[in-house]
Amino acid sequence: MRVLVTGGAGYIGSHTCVELLKAGHEVFVIDNLSNGHETSLERVRLITNCELQFTNADIRDANALDKIFNTFKPDSVIHFAGLKAVGESVANPLMYYDVNVGGSVSLLTAMSKAGCNKIVFSSSATVYGKPQYLPYDEEHPTNPVNPYGRTKLIIENIINDWTEVDTNRKGVILRYFNPVGAHESGQIGEEPIGIPNNLMPYIAQVAGGRREHLNIFGNEYDTSDGTGARDYIHVVDLALAHIGALNQNKLDMFDVLNIGAGKSTTVLELVSNFEEISGVPIKFKYLPRREGDLAAFWADSSKAFEKTSWKPERNINNICEDTWRWQKLNPNGYGIK
Ligand code: NAD
Ligand code: UD1
Repeated sequence: MRVLVTGGAGYIGSHTCVELLKAGHEVFVIDNLSNGHETSLERVRLITNCELQFTNADIRDANALDKIFNTFKPDSVIHFAGLKAVGESVANPLMYYDVNVGGSVSLLTAMSKAGCNKIVFSSSATVYGKPQYLPYDEEHPTNPVNPYGRTKLIIENIINDWTEVDTNRKGVILRYFNPVGAHESGQIGEEPIGIPNNLMPYIAQVAGGRREHLNIFGNEYDTSDGTGARDYIHVVDLALAHIGALNQNKLDMFDVLNIGAGKSTTVLELVSNFEEISGVPIKFKYLPRREGDLAAFWADSSKAFEKTSWKPERNINNICEDTWRWQKLNPNGYGIK
């Protein structure tokens, strides 16, 4: 298959490019490098010993998209490109609606013109909002509580409407839980810009000596040890879920799948696991709860297991090992920004 990957130079996109190339697909990446790195694509080539094409362009640039669709003629699109920082989306919602929603409309328009009928879209568990029951399944009501989450839900609905127009079209929505980890080669991983917002990169930077201590947001939640609990999914397992979604034939014209490991891990459990794997003590301090944080959530991903041949194979130990290898080999990430 020829697959166009939007946002392929980013964290999840680069890992997915590796798995696509390994599975024998042809890959074209469009990325404006606002949060991605061309080096990640060089590393993808290195890991796979395969070529991939790349254009540095914005998905809101209709001419750039038309050119790719006319020359590369993709069979499918995997759509990662977008902005993902919750706090930034609260401060600058219009930018999020412009890039995420506007970018997706621009992409679907180019696909329609070119007759490209299949899209796999990166959504998030954040669309569910406050849990009414757990684990979340795909039937759980949606009620995102910030502009970032709302852009994801709007795009899901736009893709649904787009598939209604033509029976040849297919839209697969993957609602990711908490993607973490890195490729086992240590060559590609997550490079947060500035101070990490998310737990795993923060722990890795404390272990690597880049940050003095971890702030743990809340220790009085209703969880086994009082700290927040999440469903951490290894980024390579997540990447493989996209291959499952492309290859499936059991999925409906428009289908929504949770992609998580189905197990929750607390902050303290993750910290102690990372200490064990790295041999480095992680200093931490307790701070009050972070505004908007939920106590705990995890996925019921049985629909994805049933409808695609996918299942996560990596556990928390693998996650810590691979994150630590990436951190040690690349203490300053790709070292460009
Ligand atoms: P990332 O920032 O590493 O990757 C996104 C890529 O898109 C970047 O390389 C960036 O340069 C590119 N991009 C942004 N705007 C663009 C534009 N207008 N045109 C072209 N390229 C553009 O993020 P990621 O963690 O790899 O996430 C990928 C997708 O998965 C995003 O849509 C994100 O919202 C979604 N997601 C991520 C998480 C997570 O925790 N990482 C969780 C749920 C969903
Ligand atoms: C965050 C995003 C969410 C996104 C998800 C995917 C926010 C508010 N939400 O959620 O939209 O879909 O990542 O990965 O950014 N923690 C600490 N100290 C830290 C960082 C985090 O104690 O320095 C705790 C949090 O309170 C939480 C857990 O660690 O209990 C995980 O936090 P994080 O990695 O930010 O993920 P989410 O909160 O699930």
